[in-house]
Amino acid sequence: MTAPDLPTELKVALDAKLQGLSRTDAAARAALISRTYRDGGNSGAITSTADALAYALARMPATYAAVTASLNALCETRPDFAPKNLLDVGAGPGTASWAAAEVLASLQSFTLLDANTALRALALDLVKGSARLCDLKYKKGQALAALADAAAADLVVASYMIGELEDSQRAPLAEALWSKTRDTLLIVEPGTPSGYARILTLRQQLISSGAHVAAPCPHDGSCPLAAPDWCHFTQRLPRLRAHMQIKQAELPFEDEKFSYVALTRKPVERHFARVLAQPEVSKVEVSAKLCTANGLSLAKVPHRDRTAYARARRWRWGDAAMVEEG
Ligand SMILES: C[S@@+](CC[C@H](N)C(=O)[O-])C[C@H]1O[C@@H](n2cnc3c(N)ncnc32)[C@H](O)[C@@H]1O
Repeated sequence: MTAPDLPTELKVALDAKLQGLSRTDAAARAALISRTYRDGGNSGAITSTADALAYALARMPATYAAVTASLNALCETRPDFAPKNLLDVGAGPGTASWAAAEVLASLQSFTLLDANTALRALALDLVKGSARLCDLKYKKGQALAALADAAAADLVVASYMIGELEDSQRAPLAEALWSKTRDTLLIVEPGTPSGYARILTLRQQLISSGAHVAAPCPHDGSCPLAAPDWCHFTQRLPRLRAHMQIKQAELPFEDEKFSYVALTRKPVERHFARVLAQPEVSKVEVSAKLCTANGLSLAKVPHRDRTAYARARRWRWGDAAMVEEG
């Protein structure tokens, strides 16, 4: 499993950009960007180098951790997955490409695509010292138009991007992303009810176009969760000192909530149940909420079943539970 914290090369590159940067100014810019997002706006508010850096400091560690956790889950389900090329759509500062480079040693080429000039410039700056990413291609443009000219890739990722689109743009973009996917498409969104709803709509649309789910669901059927419940996961990550300063945070870690789906061209060979919340462990039993091929299951694994209990004790929210499904 790849760790959720930023790789050293990226931390060093970010630190170098921070030299001489006013924390007060970065905090004000990050607060404005967050407020824009809360009010339904998007990253169009990021227009300068300083904005891009404030965004990267505030959000890049958390979105990196969410993409890494999603890729870890995908690789657990598909240990043979060895993509050679990546297409990162709505790449922003390059977060998902950094995560994919860490998780997937097989990746040899990286193409990124985004409409935002300031975030693109920052991404290109950050990769200068990276052995894996320094040769990446970064196209500037609106996703739908730019995708028409893009080459297909083994792995296509859209991380925290779908939520920035108008409702009417999502279905055509999903179709375009899938048309450029040779093997696997990973979509990651904030772990909110609306982020989950976007994932669910896109999942249904692409299953109708022939996609199969590799993770997190152990099936291609309807989601068994009913509102107000929603499928999401959480990833704890350490906070950078600069992040604590600009967010005026006291805890040295944060918990990023995210929803995701990994869709593949071919059905996955073996599916395992997915742990949907942190299990409760007592001396008597482990109780866990699982998504299985047959629907939702509130599993109770008794202590007297020593082997199963020992295995279930190690389950964490988001894990594939090695309870084999039909
Ligand atoms: C919240 S940022 C996420 C950036 C990065 N993927 C991450 O996970 O950190 C969303 C990105 O999507 C890009 N984006 C949104 N709509 C777009 C569109 N229609 N075409 C191209 N890029 C778009 C924005 O410019 C921004 O860089």
